[in-house]
Amino acid sequence: ITTDTVTVRGKTYNRDSWTNVTPTILQKLGKNLHGKKYHPLNLIKLRINDFFYKNYFNKYRNPLFSVYDNLSPVVTLYQNYDSLLVPVDHPSRRKTDSYYINSEYMLRAHTSCHQVDLIGMGLDAFLLYGDVYRRDAIDSSHFPVFHQVEGLRLYTKYELFNKSTDKDTLNLFEDGQRLPTKQESHTHETSVMMEHDLKKTLENLTFHLFGKDIEVKWVDAYFPFTHPSWELEIKFRGEWMEVLGCGIMEQKITRSAGAADKVGWAFGLGLERLAMKLYEIPDIRWFWSEDTGFLSQFEVQDPYTSITFKPVSDSPPCINDISFWINQKSFSENDFYDLVRAVGGNQVEQVHLIDSFFHPKKQRQSQTYRIVYRHMERPLTQNEVNILHEKISSKAVQTLDVDIR
Ligand code: PHE
Repeated sequence: ITTDTVTVRGKTYNRDSWTNVTPTILQKLGKNLHGKKYHPLNLIKLRINDFFYKNYFNKYRNPLFSVYDNLSPVVTLYQNYDSLLVPVDHPSRRKTDSYYINSEYMLRAHTSCHQVDLIGMGLDAFLLYGDVYRRDAIDSSHFPVFHQVEGLRLYTKYELFNKSTDKDTLNLFEDGQRLPTKQESHTHETSVMMEHDLKKTLENLTFHLFGKDIEVKWVDAYFPFTHPSWELEIKFRGEWMEVLGCGIMEQKITRSAGAADKVGWAFGLGLERLAMKLYEIPDIRWFWSEDTGFLSQFEVQDPYTSITFKPVSDSPPCINDISFWINQKSFSENDFYDLVRAVGGNQVEQVHLIDSFFHPKKQRQSQTYRIVYRHMERPLTQNEVNILHEKISSKAVQTLDVDIR
């Protein structure tokens, strides 16, 4: 039954034409995996906190970075986008890419949405952990909910140039030109020092987590809220996997947050991908498993215990395709992915578009999706798979305006 309101974490919001959160997604709110004792995401979090506690201090010899891990994932579109200078036509704003509660509130798509608020509270260095939500195809490394830690550090002129011999002549700001390597308001020295400090911090964190032998590479990137920007990739099962985005904060943001006299860097790191690498977990859906065969593998008192994941079920996958005619005006791929997820739950391992064509006589578009069924914890029977597949197809007909071919 659809009502005209939607209730999230005890608060009621009016539905409007933007609303696209689904019950399956809303169920994930409050699961708080990163706060769950012995959960692999919690173990990673403890290691990351430990790295920052041990290596960074303020002038009173107290830990420099404060840690936040309990901010609501319900944020305004302003927090998620506008406060970070995300342009109005940016792809991430599309209804097909993010989860909206209504035209004013959404489920955060990244932890960066809290940057401005926390700087506004007067913080100069923080780590912020949270669940983030993005509409996406499901595969072994993508799931519509995952966890990030945001790290941010601000510097005054004195703090940044403290160790330079010519610190008295150096300035944070100038009225200059924007270049690939710097912002118009930053001096060359600011840019060089900040890039060096940011990259060293993140490389050291990576070595702290994985040891010196890990293969890493920096790739130039673009984010609306940082310039310059980079991504860090690490090698996982022979392939490069992006684990974090980072950059020098746009001065306009730092200024609007109330820290005009400082410069900042920020990063956003995906916890699942780090944990997958660290524990050799082959599939991101495992993090949601409540099976004791999975969870008991991580019950260790010391977060630095070395653990290698052992698969709980190695039953073969069942592959079924589904083809239908779509109504191009009302159909979006991500709606179908959400539907499959809602009906199939953790018995669906993968779903992706494998064929699409336009029939000139019928004047209609056809699409074929491949659904790979596999339960993470036990074998599925062909009969179970057939029933699920049938449910998915009838639900698609009912709700997505498609006709099965
Ligand atoms: N928020 C970005 C993402 O989720 C990552 C990021 C954080 C990039 C901070 C730059 C600075 O992809």
